[in-house]
Amino acid sequence: MSAPSSAIESVLVENRVFPPSEATQKAARVAGMAAYEALCAEAEKDYEAYWARLARENVVWSKPFTQILDESNAPFYRWFADGELNASANCLDKHMGTAVEHKTAIIFEADDGQVTKVSYRELLNRVAQFANGLKAQGIKKGDRVLIYMPMTIEGVVAMQACARIGATHSVVFGGFSAKAVQERIVDVGASAVITANYQMRGGKELPLKAIVDDALQMGGCEHVGHVFVFERTATATHMVAGRDMTFAQLLDGQSTDCPPVAVDAEHPLFILYTSGSTGKPKGVQHSTGGYMLWAKQTVEWTFDMQPTDVFWCTADIGWITGHTYVAYGPLAAGATQIVFEGVPTFPHAGRFWQMIERHGCTVFYTAPTAIRSLIKAAETDEKVHPKNWNLSSLRILGSVGEPINPEAWMWYYRNVGGERCPIVDTFWQTENGGHMITPLPGATPLVPGSCTLPLPGITAAIVDETGNDLPNGAGGMLVVKRPWPSMIRNIWGDPERFKKSYFPEELGGKTYLAGDGAVRSEDRGYFRITGRIDDVLNVSGHRMGTMEIESALVSKTDLVAEAAVVGRPDDMTGEAICAFVVLKRPMPTDPEEAKALATELRNWVAKEIGPIAKPKDIRFGENLPKTRSGKIMRRLLRSIAKGEAITQDTSTLENPAILDQLSKTN
Ligand code: WTA
Repeated sequence: MSAPSSAIESVLVENRVFPPSEATQKAARVAGMAAYEALCAEAEKDYEAYWARLARENVVWSKPFTQILDESNAPFYRWFADGELNASANCLDKHMGTAVEHKTAIIFEADDGQVTKVSYRELLNRVAQFANGLKAQGIKKGDRVLIYMPMTIEGVVAMQACARIGATHSVVFGGFSAKAVQERIVDVGASAVITANYQMRGGKELPLKAIVDDALQMGGCEHVGHVFVFERTATATHMVAGRDMTFAQLLDGQSTDCPPVAVDAEHPLFILYTSGSTGKPKGVQHSTGGYMLWAKQTVEWTFDMQPTDVFWCTADIGWITGHTYVAYGPLAAGATQIVFEGVPTFPHAGRFWQMIERHGCTVFYTAPTAIRSLIKAAETDEKVHPKNWNLSSLRILGSVGEPINPEAWMWYYRNVGGERCPIVDTFWQTENGGHMITPLPGATPLVPGSCTLPLPGITAAIVDETGNDLPNGAGGMLVVKRPWPSMIRNIWGDPERFKKSYFPEELGGKTYLAGDGAVRSEDRGYFRITGRIDDVLNVSGHRMGTMEIESALVSKTDLVAEAAVVGRPDDMTGEAICAFVVLKRPMPTDPEEAKALATELRNWVAKEIGPIAKPKDIRFGENLPKTRSGKIMRRLLRSIAKGEAITQDTSTLENPAILDQLSKTN
């Protein structure tokens, strides 16, 4: 069993450090701190030459680049702009005729446990055939294609096929609602949607196509000429004649030979929506060249990927982690990877451990929220504790998406990694394209709860509000001082918001602002992320804008007059969503009525955004705490949400009595 938490706390007090074992270090791609420092020194000495070397070594260019970094239109940076390449060719074609051609690319385990394997050759054939199908339907370079698919080989094939013909994909996570899908279809101007009739998760068959149908009916989607439907299950789904087509129909008669279309390095490979500090999600636009360089390089450095490794990143393709570390990076690195359709708790909470044993997984990459929920499961039911499975194949563990608390880190290290596997706590964001601050398994001494040091060439720093560097030990804002190849290029259709969100004038207009707070340790200068500094919450590793949830609540116009959303700490999900709601009717006096209203509002938010955005707490009040000038005092709301006594000065409040009202959770 895991150690009691008091022992872990004392470990923290000792500030224990876990250096890589000699064996791990010796065999690693970046072997030892000296090797890491040499790379950092190379980047510092000649920044552009360093990135150019990596771009030549990691990417197959159909037309070599002569330009490296173009800063003339900062902060709209361009990298390798006169070079041409194809992302899919960089993941598949380049392996043909090498030892990788007949190697397993994907080990797919379905929700029900059924396993399918495809080799690189087979995957290329499927991608090429799919790409030919898309072409035959008139989809071409520059078109945007919305993908709303389950975690399947077909999901990866759809992304790769778009890349192959130069169409820009925008993947939407299968848990988002029709409304969210519609908003993204409209914003991205999609000409086609790729979806499945159903998805299988946790033994349940959940509709996808029906949600797309609803989305397309909401208006503004006239540009969608096609819906391609993967028949994941045998259950029939409604098909619209002239618009909808099954995969079988799309692929019928198509050849498995499709030359990849070369695109400019700056051509948008994909647009992925993420939450920001306003109500509207941002379409994060990525490049092809710089992105592919970092996707491959970070797989090789951070995960020390070796030819015999079996990699498993548990992220869904609907998130950036599923883009870089499922759909592109591992394939570009020629790795064998596991793709899992289901959920970690079905049919039991030992599923991850069972799958690691079954497939001989060597490098396992997951999120703290999953680890925390599996700790809880293992502590309540011995039968699903990782000790019941043989996890000796593992050699490296990873964590991503939110800060991993030292207690969970230690449990992961002991019970999953057998005190043998380094844990790479990788800090990065949708906007970054790939890892930014992370240990390297064969080099960096690990400290639980710290993402340690920036990768070579990543100029991460901590500054105050005016952009001045802060010393170790002082908390401030995380920034990146110089552009890097895999960075966000724009917010789709909103360059002004791009500048304002990421390159604020206060910092000089050229420094990338991450939106996270961070602090470096006094002794080693290691980074620790302290959480978002904007109105973005991190719930189970998913970014949720408080404004998005507020807009969803107030769009229930028959019921809600006003709403404010804040986060509060939660043991399991990191942060939990807490909504304060002013109703258009008298406050519910009966607790049952209040509960029913809260349920109605939760379901409403699920319908507007998706179940992941459902507020955990809903509190009703006749008003919100506001200053006399009408500004909502969010700091007070955060204290109330946490259950803290209000010690702040409330004398500027319009109506102090409502604080009591708002303290009751429904
Ligand atoms: C948080 C996920 C602490 C952070 C790849 C960031 C982390 C946001 C870590 C991005 C980590 C991600 N330690 N915090 N290792 N990784 N975060 O865009 O707040 O979904 O800004 O990208 O997650 O979330 P996103």
